[in-house]
Amino acid sequence: MSDDFANDVAEGLSATPKTLPSKYFYDAAGDDLFIQIMDLPEYYLTRAEMEIFREQTDSLIKALGQRPEKPFELVELGAGDGQKTFHLLKKLLSDGYDFTYVPVDISANVLEHLKNFLKKELPDLKIRIEQGDYFKRLKGLQETAQPRVILYLGSNLGNLTDEKSKAFMEKLSRRLTPGDRLVLGVDKKKSADIVLPAYNDSKGVTAAFNLNLLTRINRDLGGEFKLEQFRHAPEYDEENGIAISYLESLVDQDIIIGALDRTFNFTKGEKIKVEISRKYDLPIIRKIIADTPFEIETVFKDSQDLYLDIVLLRD
Ligand code: TRP
Repeated sequence: MSDDFANDVAEGLSATPKTLPSKYFYDAAGDDLFIQIMDLPEYYLTRAEMEIFREQTDSLIKALGQRPEKPFELVELGAGDGQKTFHLLKKLLSDGYDFTYVPVDISANVLEHLKNFLKKELPDLKIRIEQGDYFKRLKGLQETAQPRVILYLGSNLGNLTDEKSKAFMEKLSRRLTPGDRLVLGVDKKKSADIVLPAYNDSKGVTAAFNLNLLTRINRDLGGEFKLEQFRHAPEYDEENGIAISYLESLVDQDIIIGALDRTFNFTKGEKIKVEISRKYDLPIIRKIIADTPFEIETVFKDSQDLYLDIVLLRD
């Protein structure tokens, strides 16, 4: 991990414009801050998706196309704290479905918590945790004779460019068997006055989350970033529906990163791109899956029309 981290940081900070890959947000401090983000008044995404999972559980289960007596795997990519999935798991169990829940996450810390929480709350649940970077390995999708339902929630697809999303959806579809399904949770395209505060909350939690990436470089790679000389600066392109988080250098500065044996120069106002959060509508989703064997089967939305959970069938 640390080698990957070093290589990715070296590559990202050597690029023009500079970038840092957002998957490194999630160390223990990052996991903690992200849980706080999901609770923020401005961060509507989690609540909207939670509402769909809580209020439309029966319809959602129907849309998964499984039969109670036939075992299946329910794989969640980037499971996080599993709060949304909890409603679904609970109802599937009480409806007598025979399934194994396979949460996949890059954070071992998050998976341990999730496993302990579910063991306690749902002792009958069959669970197999898979730690890893699902972009690289699509772990948890090894050969299996059972049908599969994949959950990819939290608008996590939106943290990829459309080009990468397409490639990811193609790769994912190749791991699936005809009849398998994917539940894709995505944030809807909407105006800047709703989207921007979600990425720039008044308590500064999102800022701390983004800046934690620099703390992590300091700690793990002997970096010498001074956090007060950078600022979290999100932007939203309303026309295209793309939010981007930047870390902006507040002064001209040279930053040493010991483990890389290198110095990186920043000019005042220079921005490091750390995260994109794409917002969607159905035409954009159709474009992304155009060259894949996925087909849109059922679309769920929340009562405020902020968010979509789309069930895709792998033909
Ligand atoms: N995928 C979610 C989103 O785009 C959650 C998320 C990922 C996020 N990285 C983030 C939220 C950075 C805030 C900041 O909103």
